[in-house]
Amino acid sequence: MNKLNRYFNSIMSNQKEIKPAYRTENIKYAVRDIVVLANQAAKSGKEMLYLNIGDPNLFDFITPRHIIETTFKAMLENKNGYAPSSGITEAVKAVELEAEKKNIINVQDVFITTGASEAIDICLTALVNEGENILTPTPGYPLYTAVASKLRMMENPYYLDEKDNWQPDIDDIKSKINKNTRGIILINPNNPTGSLYKADTLQKIVELALEHNLIIFADEIYDKLLFDEKNHISIASLNKDVSCVTFGGLSKNYFVPGFRIGWGIVSGNYSILKNYIEAINKILRARLSANHPEQYAIKTALQEDQSHLIEAKKKLTLRRDITVKMLNSIPGISCVKPEGAFYAFPRLHMEQNDSHFVSELIKETGVVVVPGSGFGQIPGTQHFRVAFLPNEETLKKAYTSIGNFYLKYLEKFAGAAAIK
Ligand SMILES: Cc1ncc(COP(=O)(O)O)c(C=O)c1O
Repeated sequence: MNKLNRYFNSIMSNQKEIKPAYRTENIKYAVRDIVVLANQAAKSGKEMLYLNIGDPNLFDFITPRHIIETTFKAMLENKNGYAPSSGITEAVKAVELEAEKKNIINVQDVFITTGASEAIDICLTALVNEGENILTPTPGYPLYTAVASKLRMMENPYYLDEKDNWQPDIDDIKSKINKNTRGIILINPNNPTGSLYKADTLQKIVELALEHNLIIFADEIYDKLLFDEKNHISIASLNKDVSCVTFGGLSKNYFVPGFRIGWGIVSGNYSILKNYIEAINKILRARLSANHPEQYAIKTALQEDQSHLIEAKKKLTLRRDITVKMLNSIPGISCVKPEGAFYAFPRLHMEQNDSHFVSELIKETGVVVVPGSGFGQIPGTQHFRVAFLPNEETLKKAYTSIGNFYLKYLEKFAGAAAIK
C-alpha cells in the first residue's frame, strides 16, 4: 500500500453516517409516498388505475396552445435570464387585475413565485417563529404541515365538518386560537375534499381574524374549477382591513403544473402589513426570481381565451357525478359531493386504518388512491382521496374494483359486521 492510499484509509475511518436535520422528520407527502407501493404492484404486471395524483396533464387535459406560444416566444426572445425578484411587471399587473376581478380590495403587494408552493413557503417563513402556530385545515394539503415542520412551528389543526359539506368548523377554530396563533390557512376550493366555502363561513373567519390579529392565508389555486354554476368568493374581498395573503397560480386552472408559476396577493391595511411585506420581499430577493419565460404566460392565461375551462368543467362534472354516485352505492362508504377542484374524500365506515386499506387495495386491485391519514382527519375516522381526473371508463372500472375489494377486505380483516 503506498503512502497516499494509507492516508485515505486513515481519514476514511473518520466517516460517520450523515444525519439529516430533525426538521425533516415529520415531512410526509402521502400523494407521492404511495407511488412506491404502486410501482411495486405495477412490476408484478397488474393493470394500474391511478386516482392518486392531481396532475391534469397526466390525463386528457392539455395546455391551451396560446399559453405555450407566449412562453416559447419569450424564450426565443432570450427572456431567459433572471427576472425581477417580485416578477416581471407585465405578470404582476395581470395578477393585480385578476385580484380586482375577484373584488380583492386594498391590495398592498403582488409577487410571482415558483408555483403557489413557493409563495406558501415564503409567506409562512416570513411570519412564524419557532413555537408559534398557524391554524391548519384538517383534512388539508400536506405541504402546509411539511412547511410547519421545517419551521419548527407548532401544529394547530382545525377540523372541516364532513356533516356540513366539509365547511370549516367555526367552533373548533375558536377553541384552538391561542396567544401564539399567528394566522389561519384556508384552502378554497379544498384539496382533498373538493368543498367550496360559503359566504357566511368566510365572514365568520374574517371576524375571528380581525378579533385575534391573525393573517388569513387563502389558497385559491383551484378557483376557476367549479361545478354546478357555483361562484367563488375570495375571502380577501369581504373586508378591506383584514390581513390576507391570497395564493393562486397557473398549475391547475391552466393545466401547466410543470411551468411552476404561482403568486401571492397581500391585502389589508398597509400600516399593519408593511414590515411583513418587507420580510417577504427580503426572501424573494435572496432567492433571485421565479422562472422567467413562463412568467409571460400569466397575462396570456388570465386575459385571453378561457374556453379550455368550459370543456374541462364539463368533463370534470361528469367524472365528479360518477365518483359520487358509484362510491355512495358501496355499502360502508359515503362521499360528500365535491363542488370544485378535482378531488373527493370518501369515508370508509370501518375500524381498520385507511393506510392499511389503501396498501391492500393497491396490491390486490392496482387501483391507486391516497389514504386519508396523509391529509389529516378527525381521529377514529377513515377516508381516502381520489383525484377524479381519469376518463369515465377508468373511473367506473376503479370504483367497481373498490366496491368488490371493500367487502372482501372487511371479511378478511374485520368481519363484514365491522361496517360502522
Ligand atoms: C391546495 C394546493 N395548494 C397548492 C398546490 C401547489 O400548487 P403549485 O403547483 O402552484 O405549486 C397544490 C397542488 O396540488 C394544492 O393542491
